[in-house]
Amino acid sequence: MSEPIIVCEGLSKTFKTDAEELRILRSVNLVVQAGSTASITGPSGCGKTTLLSILGGLDSPGGGQVRVGPWTLHDLGEAGLSEYRSSFVGFVFQFHYLLKDFTALENVALPAYMRGVSKSEAFDRAAGLLTDLGIGDRKDQYPGKLSGGERQRAAIARALINRPAVILADEPTGNLDEANARSVEELLLGLAPAYGTTLVVVTHDSRFASRTDQRFRLSEGEIEAS
Ligand SMILES: Nc1ncnc2c1ncn2[C@@H]1O[C@H](COP(=O)(O)OP(=O)(O)OP(=O)(O)O)[C@@H](O)[C@H]1O
Ligand SMILES: [Mg+2]
Repeated sequence: MSEPIIVCEGLSKTFKTDAEELRILRSVNLVVQAGSTASITGPSGCGKTTLLSILGGLDSPGGGQVRVGPWTLHDLGEAGLSEYRSSFVGFVFQFHYLLKDFTALENVALPAYMRGVSKSEAFDRAAGLLTDLGIGDRKDQYPGKLSGGERQRAAIARALINRPAVILADEPTGNLDEANARSVEELLLGLAPAYGTTLVVVTHDSRFASRTDQRFRLSEGEIEAS
């Protein structure tokens, strides 16, 4: 029997601009079970990226409570959030954001090395992940020489390098052709059984969303199981 790893209660978020206040999240109540896969869908502009950014400690909640594992994000300061981001969560975005002057292996190893893991162990871990994700033979290539699908696999490996409990993916297949989108989808759905990682994926792809254990729809500032 799994237990919740993400719990949001009455989460709200408002953006203030000169002209207006945009109340994007009104009262989001969300529970995601540890080791499961969860998808969030909803119309463009409804606040999916905003919600994922809050879950990832990249943005602060306006109100309400957000707990991820042992971390109470709603009362963490900047130092705590930074530690949370580098130890507990991994991010995968629509664009890969690999550093172009570093090889795939170096890109994947870097976050571990920056956390104080020795260089040899960081490189061993990175090579193992790239092999697990099917691009071990491409590890010494620079991102410019990798295909879109290979770059996204390298980005997933980088997200996994510090062994996060949770992977947050924002439209991870949005920039890929059909075949690569399907294989990246398989990889992400396989992370929970392979690594025990919880996956939260924001996607416009209803087929991908339909394959997750838990499915949520965000609309008008609230979230519902769908
Ligand atoms: N820092 C910000 N300041 C002001 N408004 C913002 C800010 N970030 C996001 N917004 C606004 O909040 C709303 C929600 O944005 P968000 O990026 O979360 O939507 P989304 O659901 O991810 O959309 P999409 O599916 O197009 O990616 C949008 O209207 C956006 O313009
Ligand atoms: Mg978005």
